[in-house]
Amino acid sequence: MFNTRIKIKEVIQSDRVDYSATVMGWVRTFRNNQFIALNDGSTNQNIQVVVALGMLEETTLKRITTGACIKVVGEVIASLGKGQKVELKATSIEVLGDSDAEKFPLQPKKHSLEFLREIAHLRFRTNTFGAVFRIRHSLAFAIHSFFNQKGFVYVHTPIITASDAEGAGEMFRVTTLPLDGSAPKNDDGSINFKEDFFGKSTNLTVSGQLEGELAAMAFGDVYTFGPTFRAENSNTTRHLAEFWMIEPEMAFCDLEDNMNLAEAFIKYIIRYTMEHNQEDLAFLSQRLEEEEKQKPQSERSEMSLLEKLAFVVNNDFERITYTEAIDILRESNHNKKKKFQYLIDKWGIDLQSEHERYLVEKHFKKPVILTNYPKEIKAFYMRQNDDGKTVAAMDILAPGIGEIVGGSQREERLDKLTERMKEMHIPTEELDWYLDTRRFGACPHAGFGLGFERMVQFVTGMGNIRDVIPFPRYPKSASF
Ligand code: 4AD
Ligand code: MG
Repeated sequence: MFNTRIKIKEVIQSDRVDYSATVMGWVRTFRNNQFIALNDGSTNQNIQVVVALGMLEETTLKRITTGACIKVVGEVIASLGKGQKVELKATSIEVLGDSDAEKFPLQPKKHSLEFLREIAHLRFRTNTFGAVFRIRHSLAFAIHSFFNQKGFVYVHTPIITASDAEGAGEMFRVTTLPLDGSAPKNDDGSINFKEDFFGKSTNLTVSGQLEGELAAMAFGDVYTFGPTFRAENSNTTRHLAEFWMIEPEMAFCDLEDNMNLAEAFIKYIIRYTMEHNQEDLAFLSQRLEEEEKQKPQSERSEMSLLEKLAFVVNNDFERITYTEAIDILRESNHNKKKKFQYLIDKWGIDLQSEHERYLVEKHFKKPVILTNYPKEIKAFYMRQNDDGKTVAAMDILAPGIGEIVGGSQREERLDKLTERMKEMHIPTEELDWYLDTRRFGACPHAGFGLGFERMVQFVTGMGNIRDVIPFPRYPKSASF
């Protein structure tokens, strides 16, 4: 049997000593031909492997370089040195994979996040990205656990679709037609998609919501958790062209129930990582504090990452309407002193991220749920309020991030929905299947979408969304 190894996490976290163990991992550093810091990704901590002088041939010693993969058999003993409880006294070391020290891009020193993004295929092997991606895993696990406990059914909605769920036209086309001008054409010169693979024009999904609604009209409570794609040309620290979204959809649910679920959900998954990823969170919190020291006092955050997470799980989110938010923003000194790039002058405008962040970071200093937005700036499927101007929408805004959740109660009244679709030039024929939910046994229902990467950003404190997904896709970039 090849694999008799135990994970380094198990060795380090136990107080047990004086037993023999086999570990395998990647060398972080090798000091004085004597001390190897070895990491296998199970924990942020390295195990110290002690190599007795003269134990290894000179040729083997030379092969123990940063990045090399080795197998160590040895005795776990109480550590003689400072910084660790136990260490591994090697009895044999085998090099499984060499790593040319001259060429390996990850040197045992601090690299910038920008540089590491260029070598994203190797950045898993750093402390920061090890912590980030273990936390990403935990959050995904906690999400399934939350919904499973509540009896939600996980529905896999399609990745390739013919509809634009958000009606925003930000889609990546999927086609097998040639791009050299020889694609079949209609009489009017447009491309004849009847000849395309699916016999119609298709794209990558922007959201699984519409299909989620169909399933909710049978199972009651469902959720999707999958990749979504948006061809918006946004080069920001909050946007990706490929991101993962969690979209629960609940029958017999109104806007308030929806907000309650979303708030409980966010608190649950944060709490889960606080319990299961203490070491990684402590590392990232520390990392952020170091980073903050570079900033002028006035720009530093008042809370550490750990304090911020504890604060969020222990306090109610603020809930206000869009109209109240506009009043607060309009009357703010920030607005009066023209510190916003986009000044708030009238009701009806879409909020920019600077406004969202002002509300959560300066005004309320906690997550805020904004409700009842003007219908003009929201999607066609949102339930129309009696005032004729607003819809039963809710966005959750998080400190440091801005919008993290977008959701709404859905328009279940067929006449109101089709009327709104026509006003917004959404083709009702193509969404006839969707309208069937309103024809056959419609009920009040609601749901929301949580941007997974924005959530990972919030929990890890990472400033750029490109650093919380292994291989980010954004304008002009699809490496790896
Ligand atoms: O607000 P959005 O567009 O809502 C929907 O897609 C609804 N269908 C959700 C629903 O009600 N089922 O997107 C939801 C969330 C946003 O709040 C944001 O967190 C994230 O998805 N998001 C993005 N994350 C990264 N990059 C992008 N380009 C994103 N666009 C949206
Ligand atoms: Mg939104």
